[in-house]
Amino acid sequence: MTVININIQKAAEVLRRSNFTTAYTGAGISVESGIPPFRGEGGLWTKYDPNLLDIDHFMEDPLRAWTIIKEIFYDYFGKAKPNRAHLILAEMEKRGLLRRTITQNIDNLHQEAGCQHVYDFHGNSKRLVCLSCFSYFPAAEVSLDHLPPTCRMCGGLLKPDFVFFGEGIPHIAMSAAYEAATVSDVFLIVGTTGEVMPANQFPLMAKDNGATVIEINLHESNYTPVVTDIFLKGKATEMMELLGNALFAPALENDQDGVN
Ligand code: APR
Repeated sequence: MTVININIQKAAEVLRRSNFTTAYTGAGISVESGIPPFRGEGGLWTKYDPNLLDIDHFMEDPLRAWTIIKEIFYDYFGKAKPNRAHLILAEMEKRGLLRRTITQNIDNLHQEAGCQHVYDFHGNSKRLVCLSCFSYFPAAEVSLDHLPPTCRMCGGLLKPDFVFFGEGIPHIAMSAAYEAATVSDVFLIVGTTGEVMPANQFPLMAKDNGATVIEINLHESNYTPVVTDIFLKGKATEMMELLGNALFAPALENDQDGVN
């Protein structure tokens, strides 16, 4: 049996025995849905200036900011669909093998895959918020033909409801992340460098609280040498597929044998 298969079996056993598993995801889980990561090869920050997503920059020149935001997050990413990794996490949740998903991603793909208990740590691009009357609108219902978009209630400036650099983390997501890092006995980290504060502290907190950490990543991350107990090195879809087979297959085998 190969090392990866041994680790997959170990990870599946840990997940089966878990009382409270949290998935902790970053851009790497959505790469195979066609959404590039922020860092590393082909990363967004190698093509665009991260200041694009700075709140002061947005307020100084909303038209310029919205022109690029529309290009990246609505024209390009807007059509992305959940991949097998998102779908297997949703199946795990359905079977009681996953209790929470804390994501740094703003693409809504966990929700679209069917996960019910998702906390968007950096907000969600599928909603726009009015900076004057604080009304919320589904992005799909707001035309981006004329930029910057304005609020149909008060005429105020609309902003994507995701966290810009210089903004605070949504309170609900922050408290959900703290709770998850406190109560989880397994943290499943998928596709994140662990570069960005304060998002990057929660796997460390979970580990300090006694959680077993399983990590899926193409490459070693900041977490791998520090908190990771089982490292599944590879693409998120491939590793999640192997994990899903190991988790779900025995039940299927038993059903086929008519044992249950
Ligand atoms: N499968 C698994 N992991 C992958 C894959 C893949 N197909 N492709 C890339 N990765 C890994 C990379 O090795 C890297 O560790 O995903 C990670 C992506 O890292 P980042 O681009 O830094 O994304 P993330 O960690 O989510 O960034 C955190 O930074 O700019 C902010 O707000 C932004 O939420 C983002 C935050």
